Amino acid sequence: MNSRYYTPAIPDGWFQVAYSDELKPGEVLPLAYFGGSLVLFRSESGEASVLDAFCPHLGAHLGYGGKVEGNCIRCPFHAWKFDRAGQCTEVPYAQKIPPKAKIKPWVVRELAGLISSGITPAARHRSGTCRRFPSTDIPTGPTTSAGAGRSARATKRWPKTR
Ligand code: FES
Repeated sequence: MNSRYYTPAIPDGWFQVAYSDELKPGEVLPLAYFGGSLVLFRSESGEASVLDAFCPHLGAHLGYGGKVEGNCIRCPFHAWKFDRAGQCTEVPYAQKIPPKAKIKPWVVRELAGLISSGITPAARHRSGTCRRFPSTDIPTGPTTSAGAGRSARATKRWPKTR
């Protein structure tokens, strides 16, 4: 394939994967996005995280039976624990954590009641197809004065006709 005309299967950008009110602290949701299975969970302190769904140990789906503990999610099969970056932080019956015990994390932004995830620039760099990643900044300016406009409208006086 000619890399000059490469078109990614999933375009760069943010994609809504859930509404904020669907996920309370400590809850876990299985997702199917970006051509794969993912798990969305909210830590007990309130941050949403998205990881690939399958445990690197024996492949359990963390979205079905995974339990949130602090800022981590625990696998339902053999209780390995993974942090928000997908790194294994605990193997209950072992002294040593296997170096490859890591799950791919996805970027997450929560804004205006939407939880969004997307394709990271790092992944694009690895594949050699990096482009500018969209900003999540909310534009400021006239839109923030909407309330002021409403009150100005409410106080507008119409000329008397009599
Ligand atoms: S399959 Fe997840 S800990 Fe064994």
